[in-house]
Order: sequence, then structure tokens, then C-alpha cells
Amino acid sequence: MLGIRGLISGLVFVFIASSEATFKTSEKFKTKGKFECPLEYGVFANPGNCRRFYTCNGNVPYDTPCPAPLYFDDTKKLCVYKSKDLQCGPVPVTTPVPTTPDPNAAPSCNPSACRLPDCFCSEDGTQIPGNLVPKETPQMILITFSGAPNVLNGEPFGLLLNESRLNPNGCPIKATFFVPHEYASYYYVQKLYGQGHEIAVQTITNRQPEDFWPTATSEEWVEEVVGMKEILHVFANVSREEVAGMRAPFLKAGGNKMLEVIYDYGLDYDSSLAAPLSEVPLWPYTFDYHHPHKCISKTCPTRSFPGIWEFPLNTYSTDDETGGTCVFLDQCVFPEDPEVVYDFLVYNFYRHYATNRAPFVMNFHVNWVTDDTKVAALDVFIDHILETYPDVWFVTMQQAMQWMRSPMTSDLAKSFEGWKCPRTRSPGCNIPRTCRVKFNDGSRTQIRYLQVCGKCPEMYPWLHNIRGTKEGKRVKDLVQKSTV
Ligand SMILES: *[C@@H]1O[C@H](CO)[C@@H](O)[C@H](O)[C@H]1NC(C)=O
Ligand SMILES: *[C@@H]1O[C@H](CO)[C@@H](O)[C@H](O)[C@H]1NC(C)=O
Repeated sequence: MLGIRGLISGLVFVFIASSEATFKTSEKFKTKGKFECPLEYGVFANPGNCRRFYTCNGNVPYDTPCPAPLYFDDTKKLCVYKSKDLQCGPVPVTTPVPTTPDPNAAPSCNPSACRLPDCFCSEDGTQIPGNLVPKETPQMILITFSGAPNVLNGEPFGLLLNESRLNPNGCPIKATFFVPHEYASYYYVQKLYGQGHEIAVQTITNRQPEDFWPTATSEEWVEEVVGMKEILHVFANVSREEVAGMRAPFLKAGGNKMLEVIYDYGLDYDSSLAAPLSEVPLWPYTFDYHHPHKCISKTCPTRSFPGIWEFPLNTYSTDDETGGTCVFLDQCVFPEDPEVVYDFLVYNFYRHYATNRAPFVMNFHVNWVTDDTKVAALDVFIDHILETYPDVWFVTMQQAMQWMRSPMTSDLAKSFEGWKCPRTRSPGCNIPRTCRVKFNDGSRTQIRYLQVCGKCPEMYPWLHNIRGTKEGKRVKDLVQKSTV
């Protein structure tokens, strides 16, 4: 019970707004009525029915239902539970104030100037690197988990990512974990890392309100992101060179400031930008040029960051429209039925496999694995894929990036160096040490428990105290020290 309530209250709908060139929707969404879009793009209440709303896409309205039992709130622009605050019906539209164009804005894709391995773009974002044809392109599946691995969710990963599940070259399948600090057990992080999975970062605090992130300063991004990378190194023995990517908390990207940190501190990629639902999904691209999709969060970078890759989050949909659309697989709405969830995964996989073979990035929150229905569905999905498709690979973000830098056909991929079985890493420990440490974030003092394989810190590691020492250390202190 608790599981599904938590799931639905965490529900986020991502509404569809995209260029006409890339977005087509089935006829069943189209309205016969005479609704006039107040703005060219966006979602608007259906004046006659609180359970429905219109999605405007280039001034064309699509009549869309909220999944039962939800209602459309025109202030929040979301489907929500009925409550006394519910804003049924249209609220007046405010027109955004026009802003002056940025003279340093990134230009649109120029395919003749953008060359692999360090630059990749296409006008609509759907082209395959290396001009391969879909039939010969290996289909990559990137299983990614966002959230803190710990005792509540740690065990099912062993089942799902079992070493006996093999890619077409005989190497075990791998996944990517975007790890925030709070509630993370570094025992489990080190275990996953030891098994060859990729560890990437979120932030130390993942703090709320969510709107903190789009306006965070460069210094705040450095302390949060680079600090997280250092914490992973100190407490989970993750090599600094192996942490290559990040994902913003709540997908609230910090625009150019966030990208500056990625660029300046030696990360290679971001995966925070949600893209609208499209019939043909997007390939990852580099930030040499302007991103090729509508920016759902409205806080995408606008300047050029050469050589930094983006793995955009393609929107998922349910085939019968009742589950809505989502950019985390757990945020669409399902009945407690593994078959329905399994069908949903296959349906979305097929949008990639049957069109341009863009990497199928499967975005899960770690909570996915605390729900037996969902674990069962994913388990059967992985088996089905490995048994059915000889040209599908479960790889990490870094492995996908390596392939995109030097694209090759499915046949050649079997001997691709970048997809060979990873070097053995130190396996961590069998029994974690549980540290009881003081946590002081300035406003409160509490006792926290922290699982590690190595030594316990003196304090709970936190922002401005990434080593968990008495005196505290910032990223800024460490960087200055190393350059003296
Ligand atoms: C992995 O699969 C093997 C063979 O099916 C099984 O014996 C083992 O218990 C599995 N490991 C985990 C951690 O589930
Ligand atoms: C940490 O990782 C290094 C390799 O990067 C390894 O040599 C060392 O033994 C590991 N230390 C622990 C305590 O696991």
C-alpha cells in the first residue's frame, strides 16, 4: 500500500512540447473540438472537464486525459489528487517577458564542422553517429539508477545485474548509478563499483526546495558535485578518474553554471536534460552546439561547452495513454501487475530498436527495486532482451560514450576494446563497518549511521566537510592545496 502511494504522490508528468518536425502523436489524442491554444506550446485546462487537459504543440491542441483518479490543476500544470486546493478550469495565462539574446549563445548544429570523436550533433538530434544504418547499429541499453544505494535496496541489484547475464561478447551486463550522499551506504557503493558498474554523481545534499538548483552559484555546484566525487573516492575507494558524469537532483539542471563545473573539473558528461516525447528518440550529443530539443526544465545550458556529452532523457509513454508520460520509468502509473510493467518496458524499448537505435536509457530511481512487482518486470525484461536480440547490449554511460566516439557495426562491436570485460576492481568487503557519527549541517545536530568498508570518519561527511573531519574541508581548500 505504502509503496504505491509513495509512487503516485511522487508522480511527475512531463508534458509534451516539441517542434513539429520531431513530434507526431497518434490520431486518438487529436481533438475534434475548437479549443484555441493560449500559447504555442504548453498544457492548459480543458474548460469543460477537470479530468482532461490540452497539450498544445505548435498551436495544435491535443485532448489528453489525466490517469484515474487524478484531476488537472491548471495552476500547477499537473494531474493531482482531488483536494480543496485543486484549481479546476482555466487560470489566466501570463505571457513571458521577452529577453535580449545572449551574444555568446551556442550556435545550432553545423554537421560539417562537428567531427567525431569529440563533437557530435545532428539538426533534429535523431541521426546515428558515423552515419550507420539502424540495422547495423548495436542497440545500447543503459540501465541507470538515481538515488542512494543502501540496505533498503542493495540486495536486488545482485539479482538483476547478475554476473551470469551476458552481452553478445560474453561479458557481464553493466549499469550506471547516480549516487547522492545522504543515506548512501558506501559499502553497497563499493560493492557495485567492485562488480564493474559505473558510479556517477548527483550531489551531496540533493537539497530541497528543488528550485534551489537552477539558481545555484558556480561555487555551490563545485562543492556539491566535485565534493560528492571526493566523498566517493574517500569512502568507497572509487577512483577519481572513473567518475565521469553527473545528474542534477530532481533533473533541475543548473544551466551554464552547472556545465561550467563539468567542463572545468574534468567530467565528461551530464544526463539531466529531459526531452519531449517523440516518435523517433534522440541520440546523445555534445554541447559544442545548441541542444536539438525543447528544454522541458527550461534550465538547459545555452552556451557552448565543447566535447561535453549530454545523454538526454527521452520521455517514455504508455501505449494506451492511461499511465501518462514520464522521464523516470517509475513515474508513469501502473497497476500492481508485472505483466503490465513488462509490456511498458518493451513498448518503450521498441521505440528505439525499431527506429534509429538511439541508446535506450532506462532511468530508474533506486526505489524501483524495493517493489517486487517492478523487480519481477525488469528481471523478465532483461532475460527477454538477451534471449531475443543478438545486437542489443547493456552497457554503462562511459561505454556508450566510447562507442559514440568511434561508432562501429554490431559485428565489429563484438571485438570492441571499449566493451571488453572491465578490469577486475578491488571487491570491497563482505562485512561493512557501521559508523555512528555526529551530523551537523549548521542548523541541526543529530546522530547518523554510515556504512563503509574502511575507517570511520570523525563526523558525518557533508557539504564543506567532505572528509568528515573535526575541522572540515571544502573542495575549495583541496583545490588550492593541490595547486600550491
Ligand atoms: C546469479 O545467478 C546464479 C545462477 O543463476 C545464482 O546461482 C546466483 O545466486 C545469482 N546471484 C545473485 C546475487 O542473485
Ligand atoms: C582501493 O583501490 C585501489 C585500486 O584503485 C586498491 O589497490 C586498494 O587495495 C583499494 N583499497 C581498499 C581498502 O579497498
